[in-house]
Amino acid sequence: MKTNPLYHMKKTIIAANWKSNKTKNEAKIWLNETALGNFPEHFEIVIFPSFTLLDYISGFVRINDTPFKIGAQDISPFDSGPYTGEISGKLIKEFADYVLIGHSERRAGFGESDEMIRKKVDMALRAGLTPIVCVSNISQLDGLESKEGLVIAYEPLGAISTSGPNAQPENPSLTSEFVQKIKEKISAEVIYGGSVEAGNVGQYISLENISGVLVGGQSLDPINFINIIKNAI
Ligand code: PGA
Repeated sequence: MKTNPLYHMKKTIIAANWKSNKTKNEAKIWLNETALGNFPEHFEIVIFPSFTLLDYISGFVRINDTPFKIGAQDISPFDSGPYTGEISGKLIKEFADYVLIGHSERRAGFGESDEMIRKKVDMALRAGLTPIVCVSNISQLDGLESKEGLVIAYEPLGAISTSGPNAQPENPSLTSEFVQKIKEKISAEVIYGGSVEAGNVGQYISLENISGVLVGGQSLDPINFINIIKNAI
């Protein structure tokens, strides 16, 4: 496991995946607390709220000149058109720059196949969104190797805090080894996700081959999230 002495200089993504949480009022409280923070310029802080909050949060960020980027948690595999309930890349791009694709909760709970995920990646790239593609094994990268501009979120299944009572963050040396394998297969920035919290974020961020973290549960509370950012600096 190599650590990078200049790690604090590299662009660092700190992504907050709110999943299916937060009303508009709760989001307002969160934003008012976190927006007061002082964040280094090389930090890319990306909030992934539910679709219902994209408009509100992008407005807040614009009006208050808050240095947050915004992402959607999913994207339609189809273009705009007769697809009731779907949200196309073009619709997302009005409010966001990023999109999460293939989160393990979508793969397991909504039957998303690798093929569907590849279609979503294509749609995101066509719309000018940066896809953050979540994978837990190497074969999930099949067919993505030639695509440019992806971020890969390596999220071992057993590390995701809501995966069960035994969820554990992955040992950072193992993470680093796995990320190396990802980088041998695809040229992409790689971030780590799974039970990231203020107490362990530094161990991941300091790994040479990791460009950031994807935070679920611990991103919901503004104080916890600010502490994660502070400890990642
Ligand atoms: P967690 O979630 O930080 O709560 O483990 C991560 C994720 O599901 O993206």
